[in-house]
Amino acid sequence: MSKTYDLVLFGATGFTGVQAAHLFDVEARGMSWAIAGRNRDKLESLKAELDSDVGVIVADGRDAAAMSELAASTRVVCSTAGPFALYSDALVAACVLHKAHYCDITGETPWVRRLIDAHHDKAEADGTKIVPMCGFDSVPSDLGAWLVAHTLRERDEQTTTVRAAFKMKAGLNGGTLASALTSSVHESPRAFIDPILLHPADLRTPAERDRHQDDRKMAYDEALGVVTAPFVMAAVNTRVVRRSNALLSEEGHGYGDSFSYQEFLGVKSRRQAWLVAAGLGSLAGLLATPPGRWLLKRFGPDPGEGPSDEQMDGGYTSAVHVGVGSKGTVVKAKLTYPGDPGNRATLRFLVSAALLLCDADKLPKRAGVLTPATAFGASLMDALHAKDVSWTAEVVA
Ligand SMILES: NC(=O)c1ccc[n+]([C@@H]2O[C@H](COP(=O)([O-])OP(=O)(O)OC[C@H]3O[C@@H](n4cnc5c(N)ncnc54)[C@H](OP(=O)(O)O)[C@@H]3O)[C@@H](O)[C@H]2O)c1
Repeated sequence: MSKTYDLVLFGATGFTGVQAAHLFDVEARGMSWAIAGRNRDKLESLKAELDSDVGVIVADGRDAAAMSELAASTRVVCSTAGPFALYSDALVAACVLHKAHYCDITGETPWVRRLIDAHHDKAEADGTKIVPMCGFDSVPSDLGAWLVAHTLRERDEQTTTVRAAFKMKAGLNGGTLASALTSSVHESPRAFIDPILLHPADLRTPAERDRHQDDRKMAYDEALGVVTAPFVMAAVNTRVVRRSNALLSEEGHGYGDSFSYQEFLGVKSRRQAWLVAAGLGSLAGLLATPPGRWLLKRFGPDPGEGPSDEQMDGGYTSAVHVGVGSKGTVVKAKLTYPGDPGNRATLRFLVSAALLLCDADKLPKRAGVLTPATAFGASLMDALHAKDVSWTAEVVA
């Protein structure tokens, strides 16, 4: 069936959506595209701002018929409409039905678990690529681990462990706060502590769960060169990296038979690590109770709001991954990006992923509910390299 568009950006009028719309260079590539959302006036004013021939689709994410029509009209959908469990759920179902490839920037792992259960098998059988988590969560984590494992494999070694430390300067989006608040009300707390939440169903065994328990140690890590503190996104990113390894293992080329992955915030002292832990504990406490959620809503940014351009441009994103091979070789991979993680880096990752989906024949043949590493691997790393994202990997021991 012929499709009207190569790409549709859904949620185009939100804080991240507008930034994504400005980054897409689909017309220069000779492709057709549309911006989509629930508010015609906002979409028309974005179209005027883009000064482009872009199509406009007015559609509410909760309207299954409208989502079906949208997905039927395009080869690829890129969504920034979150909380995703609220606004992009029917859209993914429609993409699977109409065989449109899909990517987004969700960090809502319980929702992604439901996508896997509902859609993985059909999408895999049909050759449709559904790729959530293409933002800061979890592209650097997933590609960093992939790069380390790839480097070790070239030396004929399996990967036994990868540990990662993040450093960044960031602000907070209202949409991100809204997603955290929504998840804390609607999702079971048990989902967030399951270290293998995103594994294929048949691999979610007690032994596998025990093997992947989250490491919460706060101590100097010589290989990473930092004191490890709890990282707010680790409960998302570690699940994604573990799913990548599990999916690749099913195909017979996982990172390693005893592969494990842990992730931290890198800080300078144990005192700082304890302060971070106390801050995260307080945040979890606030999210867990109605008065706490009221306070966060009252004093946090509203949906549609986010950091200033100066804050986003003045931010930075960096990750170091250190992996150990089965013969003892140590590989260190580094990622740096000159911009804040939640916007500048996230949208660079997302837009690059969506454009790769437009050329899906050049990607690994894999399909289903995928991770960034399993959907794109080296292609995404190369695409990002060309856009100011620096990736390096070296053998250090
Ligand atoms: N992975 C990452 O690192 C990362 C980084 C940043 C954000 N995020 C996630 O991305 C999402 C968006 O963040 P944001 O800052 O852009 O939030 P936002 O500014 O609040 O944008 C939300 C978008 O969803 C749209 N929307 C709301 N209700 C809808 C409905 N019923 N039907 C269709 N569209 C609807 C909004 O449309 P209107 O404009 O009409 O209100 C808006 O376009 C959040 O879930 C956030 O957690 C992830």
